[in-house]
Amino acid sequence: MCAFPTETVYGLGADAANSDAVLKIYAAKSRPRFNPLIVHCADLAMAEELVEMPRLAKELAQFWPGPLSIVLPIKADSGISDIVTAGLNTLAVRIPAHPTARELIAKVGKPLAAPSANPSGKLSATTADQVRKGFDGMVPVLDGGPCEAGLESTIIAVDGDKLVQLRAGALPREEIEKALGLRVALAGTEDAITAPGMLKSHYAPSAGLRLNAVAPQPKEAYLAFGPAPKYDGPTENLSVTSDLTEAARNLFSMLHKLDATDAKTIAVAPIPETRLGEAINDRLRRAAAPRN
Ligand code: TXA
Ligand code: MG
Repeated sequence: MCAFPTETVYGLGADAANSDAVLKIYAAKSRPRFNPLIVHCADLAMAEELVEMPRLAKELAQFWPGPLSIVLPIKADSGISDIVTAGLNTLAVRIPAHPTARELIAKVGKPLAAPSANPSGKLSATTADQVRKGFDGMVPVLDGGPCEAGLESTIIAVDGDKLVQLRAGALPREEIEKALGLRVALAGTEDAITAPGMLKSHYAPSAGLRLNAVAPQPKEAYLAFGPAPKYDGPTENLSVTSDLTEAARNLFSMLHKLDATDAKTIAVAPIPETRLGEAINDRLRRAAAPRN
């Protein structure tokens, strides 16, 4: 088991065929066993050994390598441990773009199961240092610098001739819709399929979060977006120029920083719900939700 960088967030990886190794991931994260893992492949050939890839899945694969996970029917002879799928008959696969991740998978020569490299329910890690701190130095980390996207992959299930977004992520839904010329449905509202790990409270810092805060109140830490009021307390700005790509990249790192201050509440400025804003707001709402 080792942590490695991807273009989205750091992952905590192990041989997806080795149940003992995979169990170590669940133990390290205190992750509930009902929550399946994403399997990372070096290339399309490796992915096709694991899952059925109908035409629509192949079209989606134009975004690989990249920040997209596709949920597909798992093949009977995939060799993937049942613990990875949590007993589901589908598997989430992705081909990451980060050179270190690709080198690692190619070197091991096997698909790697890897959830985000953070204790279950906590903030994801976008630097090697955050991984080390999250696991009190108990997990070996390949340091590949800060993650480019800063948000987890978008998860799409292929359901016959329908695409269902199970998790908003670093690949905006609009881009998929534009490239494939069809609508992507939203899980929960329009479809019965869901990702078992999409819990109401997740990505949670120790501090509480107050969303859509136009200005901070005394003693709060402030996570601004765009032009911000002057404030003496701890402040970070996701993007001074209101750039959503920059904001996504900064989100977890800045939450880690503000969480390390004495503030009990982090006030977060309003963020538009378009493009990457959909995933940013998804993470913020879960981070702000009452804790389990
Ligand atoms: O960007 C990412 O996706 C990162 C990097 C490391 O690749 N990984 C990541 O993994 O975010 P994790 O475990 O934190 O989130 C995986 C999500 C969970 O919500 C899980 O329930 C869902 O994917 N998932 C995994 N397999 C699934 C399946 N077969 N069907 C539905 N949801 C699935
Ligand atoms: Mg995670």
